[in-house]
Amino acid sequence: SKVEPHILVIFGASGDLAQRKLIPAVYDLYRGGYLPDHFALLGASRTDFSDEEFRQKVVFDNEFFDEDKKAEPKLKEFAKLLFYQDLKQYDGEEDINKLKARLQDLSQQFQTGNRFIFYLSTPPKLYSTIPNALAASGLNEPEGGWARIVIEKPFGYDEESAKRLNKEIQSVFPENNIYRIDHYLGKETVQNLLVTRFANGFFEPLWNRNYVQSVQITAAETVGVGSRGGYYDESGALRDMIQNHLLQVLAHVAMEPPIRADAYSIRGEKMKLFQSLRPIKGEQVAEQVVRAQYTGGKTKDGEVVAYRDAEGVPDDSTTETYVGMKFFIDNWRWAGVPFFIRTGKCLPLKVTEVVITFKNPPQAIFASYDDYAMKCDNQLIIRIQPDEGMAMEFGMKVPGEGFRVKNVDMDFFYRELTTKDVPESYSRLLLDCMKGDPTLYARGDSVEAAWGFVDPIIEAWEKNEAPLVTYEAGTWGPEEADRLWDNVGGGWRNPQASLTEEKH
Ligand code: BG6
Repeated sequence: SKVEPHILVIFGASGDLAQRKLIPAVYDLYRGGYLPDHFALLGASRTDFSDEEFRQKVVFDNEFFDEDKKAEPKLKEFAKLLFYQDLKQYDGEEDINKLKARLQDLSQQFQTGNRFIFYLSTPPKLYSTIPNALAASGLNEPEGGWARIVIEKPFGYDEESAKRLNKEIQSVFPENNIYRIDHYLGKETVQNLLVTRFANGFFEPLWNRNYVQSVQITAAETVGVGSRGGYYDESGALRDMIQNHLLQVLAHVAMEPPIRADAYSIRGEKMKLFQSLRPIKGEQVAEQVVRAQYTGGKTKDGEVVAYRDAEGVPDDSTTETYVGMKFFIDNWRWAGVPFFIRTGKCLPLKVTEVVITFKNPPQAIFASYDDYAMKCDNQLIIRIQPDEGMAMEFGMKVPGEGFRVKNVDMDFFYRELTTKDVPESYSRLLLDCMKGDPTLYARGDSVEAAWGFVDPIIEAWEKNEAPLVTYEAGTWGPEEADRLWDNVGGGWRNPQASLTEEKH
């Protein structure tokens, strides 16, 4: 579908996210010819800027802009579409009236009609303030046009606060106009999980408890918390990565086939999946979830100080920088299949991948020839990033006498599909919002359900019912996480920098 003329309003426009991701993403859409002829961007935040100063800051002086792109003549044209409005208080009547007047002017100047996207790239405490202020001035239901609202993470702090926030926003914007962004859903490879599963005939028949032994998802990062200690310490790995990004990835891996590839069907199936997650509560937390914090050490990026010594982190912080967990999905497809998720900061590699391990054949008839049973892993490795692609591992005969079996890879690299630049997450997601398609945005009820799954774990931690362990920066996390695999068979895959480089 086409993008209708509109004005994109970015609240918090002088902040880090806007400069790092949003403005460059909008420019990519512009140079790719995706934006409508009638379009303008209005930045809004507390700082005083003139339009010119704003353009200078977020475009020409923006260190996150590619140097090559900065030299493009198009960038100057693009900058002319950028405007700025300072707001002293996001909910002050005077401010909102100023904003409204400005939007009226701009929509006349650019003939965009009354169509607005309000992007909230602000501290979370404003996520309900701004929609209410917009509603008070009628900007949520502009005459003859539309208004959509985009909300950054974190959406809520737990189930209760997410519910409250949903209620407030939904009272002024209809659910289909609320776009809760999760940048993992903008990743090509996360979307490709759906295509792999549902555009092919031969994966899906095996994709269930009859053939799958286990499923594991790893999201490892080499970076520590850096200068984000203040934010991160209030959050921790479970809230920062699992509640949102990794449960979304899980939903793409495990949901039932949607009847169509539209927002209603896909998001409906995801919701069912979240509803079938078996809660982990009380004593189970210590058995199934490992939480850990890094101590000082050496990572790929150099020496790092212990998490507790990082800027903005209290000396006695119990916030986890690593989580490894085992859980189950109680539905017909997955009954009894263990699922594993791990994520952490200061690990040896930046890598996100999903591994489906299939069951062994019923009889190991070649076992007498060598250690067949150990070597032959039927695994499907789906690499979300980097070195995006997929590899399938299976046993083949070693040439020569007897029937010796060796594990081999069949691989596909995503980069082979196109020579064009693959759109960045934020461009893809923004474009969808401009088109009015919320398929790749999180629906309100699923966000609540995802919190519902993590809340009891956090509660047990708060009561200290499960220990906080440590791991040295630059290692694959605490040993305790290996024990999650006791009685399951198999273990965490040991990913290498490139997809098929695994060492057995
Ligand atoms: C963000 C988290 O949402 O995702 C960060 O707040 C994390 O802590 C980041 O580093 C990871 O995203 P990506 O795209 O680099 O895997």
